[in-house]
Formats: sequence, C-alpha cells, structure tokens
Amino acid sequence: MAHVVTQPCVDCKYTDCVVVCPCECFYGDDRMLYIDPDDCIDCEACVSECPVSAIYRDANVPAVWREDVALNAERVAALKPAGARVTEKQPRG
Ligand code: F3S
Repeated sequence: MAHVVTQPCVDCKYTDCVVVCPCECFYGDDRMLYIDPDDCIDCEACVSECPVSAIYRDANVPAVWREDVALNAERVAALKPAGARVTEKQPRG
C-alpha cells in the first residue's frame, strides 16, 4: 500500500503536501510530484493538504487516474538516483 499523486497535480504543484510528509517520500519533475511507494507509510497527512485533491490511497485512485499508480513508481525510480526529492514548499510556476 502507498499513496499516489494523480493528474490534478499536473501544472499545479502546490507542494503543500511535501511539508507534512514524515518520510520525505515526494519526488518531482517539471510536470508534477510523485510519491515513493516503498517509503510511504500511508499516514495520509498529505491528503488533506493538497488544494486540488490530487492524492489518494493506491487502492482508491479513481479509475480515470489508475495509470498514475504505476507512473508514481516509475518516475520515482528514475528521479530518486538524481536526487530529485522535494521536501520544502516551492514557488509555483
Ligand atoms: Fe501536487 Fe497537490 Fe502536492 S498539487 S504538489 S499533490 S499539494
């Protein structure tokens, strides 16, 4: 189990989520943020912080965004070695 960032994050990237994560699970690229499924402890602290409700427990991701479950894992695998961890709120845009 893990939580997943879904498509509403694309081009929003409020980054309120990263500040409350006790495990520093978030990674980012130009489009959106992703949660490391191996490090997420399902505390759900980030869920209520996202202004666009982009974060869901993997089992509860709406069907239209199911592909984001695999996308989070794939992008974290690519971004983690590059050190693209996001732990502080960032300016948008
Ligand atoms: Fe994205 Fe919401 Fe976090 S828009 S960066 S998941 S607060």
